[in-house]
Amino acid sequence: MRFVVVLLLVVACAGKPPVATPADALRANVPLAQLAQGRTLLIQKCGGCHKPPLPGDHAAHEWPTSLAEMSGRAKLDGAQQHAIETYLLAMLARPQTAAR
Ligand code: HEC
Repeated sequence: MRFVVVLLLVVACAGKPPVATPADALRANVPLAQLAQGRTLLIQKCGGCHKPPLPGDHAAHEWPTSLAEMSGRAKLDGAQQHAIETYLLAMLARPQTAAR
């Protein structure tokens, strides 16, 4: 039993960006596919130099600036930057994903 608890903690602390659900898409009023694409891009483009950041790493009003700074490093085009931003803000708006 203790083993299971430790295992769950390890998995929870691995800190992967959360998978978007239909409820997230509905709340953000964007297609689920766009959120999924934003998450994939975040992992692919933003996970090379450091771990991919999590939506809760920044407050909603901070993300656009932070993302704009990093998009040069990650060589994002406008559409990719937009998809990542949409994903981050949609997940941040989840009731349980409050900014730290
Ligand atoms: C070419 C390497 C590189 C890539 C690609 C990259 N980063 Fe970074 N990132 C860094 C470095 C180095 C730092 C350390 C501190 C600094 O210079 O700001 C950092 C710091 C950060 C921070 C913490 C500091 C801050 O300004 O908020 C965030 C958040 C962040 N990156 C997000 C992203 C996102 C989102 C992407 C994808 C769009 C990304 N990074 C892609 C190199 C990179």
